Amino acid sequence: MSLASLKPARAPFTFAHRTTCVKTSFIREILKVTENPAVISFAGGLPSPDLFPVDEVAEAAQAVLTGQGRAALQYSTTEGFLPLREWIAQRYASRFGLGVSPEEILVTTGSQQGLDLIAKVFIDPGSPVLVEQPGYLGALQAFSVYEPEFAPLAAGEEGPDPAAIEAALEPGRVRLFYTVPNFQNPSGACFSLAARKAAARASAEAGTALVEDDPYGELRYAGTELPPLKSFNPSTLMLGSFSKVVAPGLRLGWICAPREVIRKLVVMKQAADLHTDIFAQRLLHRYLSTTDFTAHLARLRAVYGKRAAAMVDGFRATMPAGTHCNRPEGGMFLWATLPKGVSSRALFEKAAAREVAFVPGTAFHFDGGGDSAMRLNFTNTPEDRIAEGLRRLASAVNEELA
Ligand SMILES: Cc1ncc(COP(=O)(O)O)c(C=O)c1O
Repeated sequence: MSLASLKPARAPFTFAHRTTCVKTSFIREILKVTENPAVISFAGGLPSPDLFPVDEVAEAAQAVLTGQGRAALQYSTTEGFLPLREWIAQRYASRFGLGVSPEEILVTTGSQQGLDLIAKVFIDPGSPVLVEQPGYLGALQAFSVYEPEFAPLAAGEEGPDPAAIEAALEPGRVRLFYTVPNFQNPSGACFSLAARKAAARASAEAGTALVEDDPYGELRYAGTELPPLKSFNPSTLMLGSFSKVVAPGLRLGWICAPREVIRKLVVMKQAADLHTDIFAQRLLHRYLSTTDFTAHLARLRAVYGKRAAAMVDGFRATMPAGTHCNRPEGGMFLWATLPKGVSSRALFEKAAAREVAFVPGTAFHFDGGGDSAMRLNFTNTPEDRIAEGLRRLASAVNEELA
């Protein structure tokens, strides 16, 4: 008798409705291509592993295990390691003069978990949620699980138009407004000062939860820093992350929000994972307080700034007429538009055949738009490979045009 015939017949599983609310993303298709090491990938959102502070993290890990091993391996508080929250509060004070207390900070398992917790606290099925278009794919996915009604806000080089922000945020209309005001993923764009003030003022007046997701603010290579939205509206929920400035594998981020919001978020986080990895939090705190973090940031900015320039200059010199790209002043991405009639999804196939990859613009639009645009990452590829990748990409565009 075969084993299979012993198994009882089983009815198919019935999955929760929410599992059907999140679109499987094109990113999976992209990963299939970028698994091949010969492929030059401008697709991922990866920092350069050469810049991870591996030796310093090893030293911090050893010191934590030797000096605080039992506490580091025990269960801990949901809010997060107090000295790390104090460090974050201090950084807001020194960078922006923002007076934030550690009680207004919740450490999360990456800022991606912050997005999920915020969605749990604010989004009911059908809640209107305003998002920039194009917008961060991971936020669209995190929010989609809770079945909001997305409303798009077109964003250009300087973020959304202030008048459009005010029109979209009529009192009582929008539950939550999600923004990435510094070097946005995917567009690399930065909110103008006027857009910052409009978003802050209009969301405060409308009773809309304003979410300012800022994983890239410290990665500025040119221009001058603008104040965060939170400096104009203290009720803003600010998300931060150590992924791009230390290492994403540590999975450490945070939410900085008013105490009443933190209280709700803490309950949601308890239900999700009790607390974020306390060994990682202690290790990171040890790293931040015993190494020269300013010098580390300066190194990242120097290397990434050169790669950004190589990509923009190379793109403009190599691509056929009708192709355009912006010149982001920081972050990790460049946003490009293709000649009329060229589809970025069709181009992806041609590019993959030439062993170069990018993310088609459609991935960042919840309504299927964006096919004439693409996102290119410059942080994870050295300059000579950027030049070669752009040559391959130009050849793919030329074939599409032909
Ligand atoms: C805008 C934005 N928010 C949040 C995240 C999530 O970052 P993490 O969970 O690693 O902190 C990313 C990652 O790419 C991002 O681009």
